[in-house]
Amino acid sequence: MSSGCCSGKPARGATIDRLFRPQGVAVVGASTNPAKIGYRVVENMVRSGFSGGIYPVNPKGGELLGRPVYASLREVPGTVDVAVLCVPADHVYPTLAECADKGVGHLVIITSGFSEVGNLDLEKEIVQYARAHGMRVLGPNIFGIYSAASRLDATFGPGGILPGHVAIVTQSGALGIAMIGKTAAESLGLSALISVGNKSDIDESDLLEYLAEDAATRVVLIYIEGVKGGERLVRTLKRITARKHVVAIKSGRSKRGAMAAASHTGSLAGADAVFDDIMRQCGVLRAESVQEAFHWVRFLSDAPLPSGDEAVIVTNGGGIGVLATDACEKYGVPLFDDQTILKQTFAEVMPDFGSSKNPVDLTGQATAEDYARSLEAVLERDDMNAVVALYCETALFDTEKFSVLLRSLYERYKERKPIVFSLFGGERIERILRELRVEGLPVFGDVYEAVSALGALYRSWRQQTATAETEPPPSELDVAGIRAILSRAGKEGRGFLLAHEAAAVAERLGLRMPRSILARNLDEAVRAAGEIGYPVVMKVVSKDIIHKSDAGGVALDLETANEVIDAYQAILQSCLAYKPDAVIEGVEVVEMVKAGVETIIGARQDSSFGPVVMFGLGGIYVEVMKDVAFRAAPIDATTARIMIGSIRSYPLLLGVRGESRKDVGAAAEVIVRLSQLATQCREITDIEVNPLVVYDYGKGVVAVDVRILFGSQGGDAA
Ligand code: COA
Repeated sequence: MSSGCCSGKPARGATIDRLFRPQGVAVVGASTNPAKIGYRVVENMVRSGFSGGIYPVNPKGGELLGRPVYASLREVPGTVDVAVLCVPADHVYPTLAECADKGVGHLVIITSGFSEVGNLDLEKEIVQYARAHGMRVLGPNIFGIYSAASRLDATFGPGGILPGHVAIVTQSGALGIAMIGKTAAESLGLSALISVGNKSDIDESDLLEYLAEDAATRVVLIYIEGVKGGERLVRTLKRITARKHVVAIKSGRSKRGAMAAASHTGSLAGADAVFDDIMRQCGVLRAESVQEAFHWVRFLSDAPLPSGDEAVIVTNGGGIGVLATDACEKYGVPLFDDQTILKQTFAEVMPDFGSSKNPVDLTGQATAEDYARSLEAVLERDDMNAVVALYCETALFDTEKFSVLLRSLYERYKERKPIVFSLFGGERIERILRELRVEGLPVFGDVYEAVSALGALYRSWRQQTATAETEPPPSELDVAGIRAILSRAGKEGRGFLLAHEAAAVAERLGLRMPRSILARNLDEAVRAAGEIGYPVVMKVVSKDIIHKSDAGGVALDLETANEVIDAYQAILQSCLAYKPDAVIEGVEVVEMVKAGVETIIGARQDSSFGPVVMFGLGGIYVEVMKDVAFRAAPIDATTARIMIGSIRSYPLLLGVRGESRKDVGAAAEVIVRLSQLATQCREITDIEVNPLVVYDYGKGVVAVDVRILFGSQGGDAA
């Protein structure tokens, strides 16, 4: 999407590196009026100590913050890699020629008044011109960009950004500006902060590709309202999360929220369940709130990866220890459980009444020294991989001394093991919390916040250590054969396939459907039933009878030849009574599908992510429980199995209450095929196999019904 949404084949644009490490930055629309954005941007650039040339541009000329103001970009003496445009919307296009003449690489267009308010054409024209002249566009409708690599704060935010290891990419301007203040208040250092606004050209994928290689960036926080170019985003995210932590906040979870996001940015927020699952597939940590995201990124930017996942909780309060245990279960943090080792480890430091079971409860009698010695005992052990250190304020405890001990312990062990602290108490504790936080210690006011941050680290670490998801090799799908079926139906003016056409596609996909034979008379019906094997189902075949059951045209569970004979006659009689002039071609004798676990598998072209696949349990489960999982296609069999294992009712497939294990592998294979079909045949907008009956392990699956909708050929959404 980003490359030439409107220009067909654009000229090669400037590298993104130039945006983050420019030699010179011009501010077009620089103003001496401190109330204007054009003043604030120059002021922030000067204050942040930008290492390159700062060139204010305004036809009035003069001087601004000790720098000469140039009447035109053409007069600027040095190289200008980036031009920040702070002129009103109708002045933007006219300035492009001088930017191109000056050899500008990137336009950072702060100006609002484009696609977000319906002015899409002007936005497209700007991008088209820029791309045709080798320039890339960030924005429009943004607050600017910060890059620690060149100490460049080209935003109109409050300033005071600290350099560090977290990169923020945000679609929301106001929230992004507020984040600047928040990061400064919380002493969270940034490697970059980029406002993407309308994403007319440069989007998250372009930026993530740069940030993946940027040595200073350890964690990326993305705030997304709507996804454009989802297929490329998925590929880029999979690559970056193999090495770095990525946290996403996406608004539009609720239906109302999605509507607000859509009207806000001019791009529709994708269906939330799809987004959620695809982010998980990409190894992205999705935070519920801005606060949670902040807790996570602050912790992730400093914490080392664990060497294993067994954590130990050390506490001086029983209740808070139990709360932490609950939180560990919720956030996927396993607890170290070897009771003998726990007993030995804490034998020396455990006060009377204490418990060395995990949570290790030192009780309210513990002194600051007892506490520190216990923590040290855990931190020294290689088999205990992380520590959740909890403290409730007590009168017996010297809190001041405690904070000194925490600092020194953290300093000694911070690079060896993940540690989270949660302190709870009165005014003194609140003060210590603030102090330690400013110093960069991972301290939290609430147990759940602490464990949630540790859980986020675990999830990201598991992703980084897992085998990378591989795309299946191009399959041997008979795409030409499938397209021929679609084309014949299309010629009849249909955007859907009839049952026998869908069955023909299913056959080409290698899906087993119930066997079916058309019988034109009684003898043929009996022969067909014998060939298929009992029990069978019979259905009338007549283009004059659409509602077969209503006409008495269906008979189920026929177990013998005599039952087939009786049913055949009964079907003919009742159909002719129902519609005396109906032309009856015969009956369809169909294999009666044996009971198994009913599942639903589908694939479709998603407006944000392109081809996606879905898996869930069929029947009431899918409609009532909405217990389904999505993945961006194509996927391989391993990912399909992970997908199947991610639904809540997965235990039904593993075999519960004495039932045997089901053939999950065969179901996974169907998901893989559908994912390939949706990727290779973009004109299929929807395919749904419902139900796909899954039998015992080794016995395979049967696709009872296959429905296919199609339209004109879709393109790569990237
Ligand atoms: N080259 C250089 N300077 C130019 C110019 C040009 N072609 N055309 C106008 N200017 C100057 C103006 O003379 C003015 O300077 P002055 O103060 O010395 O007179 C300056 O550029 C700014 O123009 P002005 O007309 O005063 O606009 P403004 O500052 O009131 O507003 C924007 C400009 C871009 C800030 C405004 O149009 C806008 O889009 N605001 C919303 C920004 C926003 O919220 N973005 C999203 C954030 S998330």
